[in-house]
Amino acid sequence: MLPLHRLAQSQSAPTSKYEKFASWLRSRLATRILSVALIVLFLLFWLFPPFPRYDSVPLSEIFKRPSAGAHYAQDSTEAPPSRVPAAVWHSRAQSVKESFIHAYHGYEAAAFGWDELLPVTNKSTTNFNGWGVTIVDSLSTMLLMDLKDEYTRALAHVSKIAIKIMCTGTIPFFETVIRYLGGLLSAYALSGDAILLTKADELAQTLLPVFDSPKGMPHFGYDPSTGFKAPSWASHALLAEMASCQLEYKYLAHLTGRAEYFQKVDRMMDLMQNSQRADGLWSTYWDITSGTQVNTHLSIGALADSGYEYLLKQYLLTGKSEKRLLDMYLKAVRGVLEKLTFLSSTRDLLYITDTKDGVPEHRLEHLSCFFGGLLALGVETVDLPQQDADLHRWAAEGLTTTCWMTYAETQSGLGPEEAQFKVTFDRLHPLKWMDTVRAWENAGREGGVPPGVKAPQLILGESRSGHRDYYLRSPGYYLRPETVESIYIMWKVTKDEIWRERGWGIYRAIEKHCKTEFGYGTVPSVQYKRTGIADSMPSYFLAETLKYLYLLFSEEDRVPLDKWVFNTEAHPLPVFHWKNSEKALYGIHQ
Ligand SMILES: *[C@@H]1O[C@H](CO)[C@@H](O)[C@H](O)[C@H]1NC(C)=O
Repeated sequence: MLPLHRLAQSQSAPTSKYEKFASWLRSRLATRILSVALIVLFLLFWLFPPFPRYDSVPLSEIFKRPSAGAHYAQDSTEAPPSRVPAAVWHSRAQSVKESFIHAYHGYEAAAFGWDELLPVTNKSTTNFNGWGVTIVDSLSTMLLMDLKDEYTRALAHVSKIAIKIMCTGTIPFFETVIRYLGGLLSAYALSGDAILLTKADELAQTLLPVFDSPKGMPHFGYDPSTGFKAPSWASHALLAEMASCQLEYKYLAHLTGRAEYFQKVDRMMDLMQNSQRADGLWSTYWDITSGTQVNTHLSIGALADSGYEYLLKQYLLTGKSEKRLLDMYLKAVRGVLEKLTFLSSTRDLLYITDTKDGVPEHRLEHLSCFFGGLLALGVETVDLPQQDADLHRWAAEGLTTTCWMTYAETQSGLGPEEAQFKVTFDRLHPLKWMDTVRAWENAGREGGVPPGVKAPQLILGESRSGHRDYYLRSPGYYLRPETVESIYIMWKVTKDEIWRERGWGIYRAIEKHCKTEFGYGTVPSVQYKRTGIADSMPSYFLAETLKYLYLLFSEEDRVPLDKWVFNTEAHPLPVFHWKNSEKALYGIHQ
C-alpha cells in the first residue's frame, strides 16, 4: 500500500504518463467529454441496435388465431376457424417425424454411443454416465414413430451397455431414473424386446444403494466403482428427486416380482403422507438423515415439479388402487391453487409461482408449465369431486394458455425459461386466483368461467413489450417440452383444435430458430438474434418435445390416456393392476 504522504505528493506533481492521464481524468473537461460521448453512444445504440431484430411479420402468420377457440373465448365475435383437414394434420405429424430423423441422424453421425450431440460444432459430450443417453431416451419416440432401422441400431447399442463398468463416475439418481430407466421400460412395454427389461433390471439394481440412509431417502447419486454416495445440496434431498422414481420402480416391481423395488420407493410416499403440510404442499429441501423438511420454499418448478406429478400418475399407473396417492394429490393441488396461483396485473393471465417464507416471487418457470396438462389429465381420467373438477379444468386451461402466450408474444415465437410478472400498486394486483374465483362465485358466476381462464388479447411486437404484464427474466429457450406437453393433453381432453394450432406455431418456431446443419440447438434469447444457437441438444428434446408434438398432430391415438401414463421424461408406461399376491407381498396401501 502507498504511504499517505507519497500519495499526496504524487497528486500534486504528476510525473509518469499514467499519473498525468489520471489527473486529466479528474478534470471537469474530461467529465463533460465523457458524458457527451456516453450520450452519443447510447443514442447510436438505440437508433441502430448492434444485433438484428426479428422481423415482426412471420409471427403474426404463425399465430393468426389468438383467440378464436370456441369454448373459452365466449365473448369473441370472430367466426370459428375453418377446420384443418385430417390430411394436413397427418403431413404435419410427418414433418415432426422428419425433424426427429434430422436430430437423431445428426447424433448418430457425430456422437453415436456418447451421451449427447453438440449440434453446432458437430461433436459429442458425455454428461449422463456415458451410456449414450440420447439413444436410450429416444427409444420410445422411435417406436411410436415406427422408425424401425433407427430402433434396430439403437437396440444393438443398448444390449452392449455394461452398466457397472462403463459409467463415468457418480450416477445421478433422478436423471438416470427418468431418462434411462424410464426409457428402457417404456421401450420394453412398446416392443416386448426382452433385453430392455434385462437392462432395466440391472440398472435399477445397481442404483438401489442410493436409498441407504436412515429414513431410506435417496442420495443425489451413487458411484458403483467406489461405493461413494453423493449427497446433493449440502446433505439435502430435493422433493423432485425423492418423489420421481416411483412410476419406474413400481412398474419394474410388477414386471420382476422384486418386492424391494416397490418398498424402497413407497417409503417416500409414507414420508410425504405423514408430513404433508396443512396447506397440502411440501418444502423443496429435505434433511436426508432425519427425513424432515428443512426450508420454507414452496414450488412446483425446478426442485419440486415431478414430485407433485408422480402422485396422480402413480395412482393412474397402478390401476387406481393406491387411494392415498389420490388424496395427497387433491390436497396438494388445492394448496397450489390457493397459495401459488395468481392473476397478472392487467390482462388477468393465470400463472403459478414459488413462495419463499410465504412471499410470492411472481416468476413463472417454463418447468412449471407441465402443471396445466397434469390437471387436465386428472380431470379426464379420475372421477373428481365436482368442485375440484371445475377448478382443475379452469386452471388447466388458464395456465396452459399463459404458457403458450409467453411463446406467442416473443419475436421468435419461442418461450422463455422464466417470465417475471409485474407487481403493480395501483390495483390490488397481483391477486390470488382463488380469491377472485370466490368473488366471482359470490357475484353469480358471470360469464360461465372465472377470471384467468379465457385467452386475453396478445400483445405482439417488440416495441409494445413494455405493455405486457410480464417481462422475460431468463430469456433462453432450452428445447424444453413442458408447454407442448400441456398443449397435447389439452388437445386430447378438450378436442379443441386451437391447441393443435398453437402447438403447430411452436413447432414452426423451433424449426425456424433452433435447427442447425447437424441437429437442433438451444436458443440463448427468444427475443433477439443476439447469440444465435447454442451448442447443446439435450436428449429430452428427442424424448419429450418432439414426441408430444408428433402425438399432437397424429390422427391415430397410439397412447390413450386411460391406458398409458407418461413418466416425467415422456416415456409412456402401461397402466396395470396389482395382483392380490403383490398387494400382500409388498404391503400395498389401499
Ligand atoms: C460431423 O462429424 C462426423 C463424425 O466426426 C463426420 O463424419 C462428418 O463428416 C462431420 N460433418 C461435417 C459436415 O463436418
